[in-house]
Amino acid sequence: METIIAVEGIRKYYKVAKRDRGMRAAIGQLFNRKYEVKKAVDDISFMIGRGEIVGFIGPNGAGKSTTIKMLSGILYPDAGSVEIDGFVPYKQRKQYVKNIGVVFGQKSQLNWDLPLIESFELMKFIYKIPQEQYEENLKLFSELLDMEPFLRQPVRQLSLGQRMRGDIVAALLHSPELVFLDEPTIGLDVVAKEKIREFIRYMNKTRKTTIIFTTHDMQDIEKVCDRLIIIDKGKKIYDGSIDEIKNKYTNFKTIEILLENGGKETETFDIRVTPMNSVLQKLFAEKHIKDISICEPEIDGIIRDIYEGRLLLDSPAMEGTGV
Ligand SMILES: Nc1ncnc2c1ncn2[C@@H]1O[C@H](COP(=O)(O)OP(=O)(O)O)[C@@H](O)[C@H]1O
Ligand SMILES: [Mg+2]
Repeated sequence: METIIAVEGIRKYYKVAKRDRGMRAAIGQLFNRKYEVKKAVDDISFMIGRGEIVGFIGPNGAGKSTTIKMLSGILYPDAGSVEIDGFVPYKQRKQYVKNIGVVFGQKSQLNWDLPLIESFELMKFIYKIPQEQYEENLKLFSELLDMEPFLRQPVRQLSLGQRMRGDIVAALLHSPELVFLDEPTIGLDVVAKEKIREFIRYMNKTRKTTIIFTTHDMQDIEKVCDRLIIIDKGKKIYDGSIDEIKNKYTNFKTIEILLENGGKETETFDIRVTPMNSVLQKLFAEKHIKDISICEPEIDGIIRDIYEGRLLLDSPAMEGTGV
């Protein structure tokens, strides 16, 4: 596969003013500000092939948005390099943006006072989109995203889900080859999320658009991408397929216990470390059990356990799995 994105050792450190509480501290800080360094992105590298669809996940504050900002040329990395389709985004921003589409779910690019369709017209003008291409894309996208009913409404009257669909279309009207979507499903209901997922998949399948998106919704990833990059505290902690991560944890089982007193408990363990029979013996000896069921952990649970440090991707139990 031809490489479209090459990211090598990028870092972004923010200097943030330290704040102490209280009047005296406030006055003191006027003259003698103390700073802390926040390592938002701390030495991340990866390659992405043309036509791939990659999900970036990580807990809040992991560094996802900062990474996307460096890839889309909004921020300059403090160290490392980014090369995308022959461009260095933060150096050749003007030419580069013609090739990309960017959506920040938390911050709309649409004009609040204008009807949605007029924001689209504005995009046509800015990107010099040929009339034919514009019409074709607009028709297709509004069908796929069910936008016809609210195209002529001012953006401020739209629901979050409608607005988000508008933002996505605005970013794609010029048919970019590469699209960055930063939390495009945040705060949306299940139906709106599903529409957006289908749309993302469609664009990737039919137009071979390369798509990078961030989310903290595991369903987004499971339903949309083959590849997953997990980042936490500014570091990349996993890069591989969803199937791989599931396979890694096939030795993990979750036991759901229904107690005589009606209580419920769940426990997850690694059968190579604690064999099933010893787990069961221990449980039956210690608790009054009414019913028990054994299941494979869900991908959401696995990811949550990784974030919270209960499962390590490179723990000894993972040996031989090729992490
Ligand atoms: N402009 C900024 N100034 C200072 N700190 C920032 C700034 N932007 C982000 N951060 C901090 O950097 C870290 C990573 O932020 P971000 O990339 O937005 O994470 P994510 O998108 O994964 O939630 C967070 O701790 C955040 O508070
Ligand atoms: Mg973010």
